[in-house]
Amino acid sequence: MKIELLQDNFKIEKAKKEDWNEILILLEETNLIDRILGNGNHKNFYIVKAIDTKKIICCFAIFHKDNIGILKSFGIKKELQGQGIGKKIANKLPELIKSVGLNKLYAASWEAPDFWEKAGFEELDFNASNDCYFLEYADYLEKNYPQFLDNRKYFVLNL
Ligand SMILES: CC(C)(COP(=O)(O)OP(=O)(O)OC[C@H]1O[C@@H](n2cnc3c(N)ncnc32)[C@H](O)[C@@H]1OP(=O)(O)O)[C@@H](O)C(=O)NCCC(=O)NCCS
Repeated sequence: MKIELLQDNFKIEKAKKEDWNEILILLEETNLIDRILGNGNHKNFYIVKAIDTKKIICCFAIFHKDNIGILKSFGIKKELQGQGIGKKIANKLPELIKSVGLNKLYAASWEAPDFWEKAGFEELDFNASNDCYFLEYADYLEKNYPQFLDNRKYFVLNL
């Protein structure tokens, strides 16, 4: 079933413990589940709910250290993909990260690198970053997901 959402007819909120099962279902259907380690939990996650149905239409996680954030596990419900919703939600990220005291948000992508540029992020040569927190993450990906090395791109959203 195709669900139509009106512009901005969604609400981003911090995930609660009771949202975790629905988040896992969304991560499963968006093929993002394999990066959630055994002890994954809701704590760094945000959910986006459609205001009318109150259903979760998107989830993502922001991990952070000091004022640097790393965006992970950004997934849009399958039947809603390709309708501009991901971009509208991503366009709210500057406001969101500002509200939690971050001034930079990094992302890595090999599934949808073109999406991130369209969503307002800048591509980044990871060697050009001085942020240790991000460099550790990039290093972790290089070591643990070498199969995606050819397609992987890094992005940053600067406030
Ligand atoms: C990738 C994803 C988040 C995009 O959200 P979406 O709502 O489907 O994307 P939108 O409809 O807002 O697309 C915005 C733009 O990005 C482009 N885009 C979307 N998905 C893309 C993809 N997988 N590859 C390349 N470009 C993509 C669209 O063509 C569109 O371009 P336009 O502005 O020129 O028309 C969503 O499809 C998804 O959850 N996919 C599965 C999980 C995933 O890959 N997550 C990303 C992990 S890094």
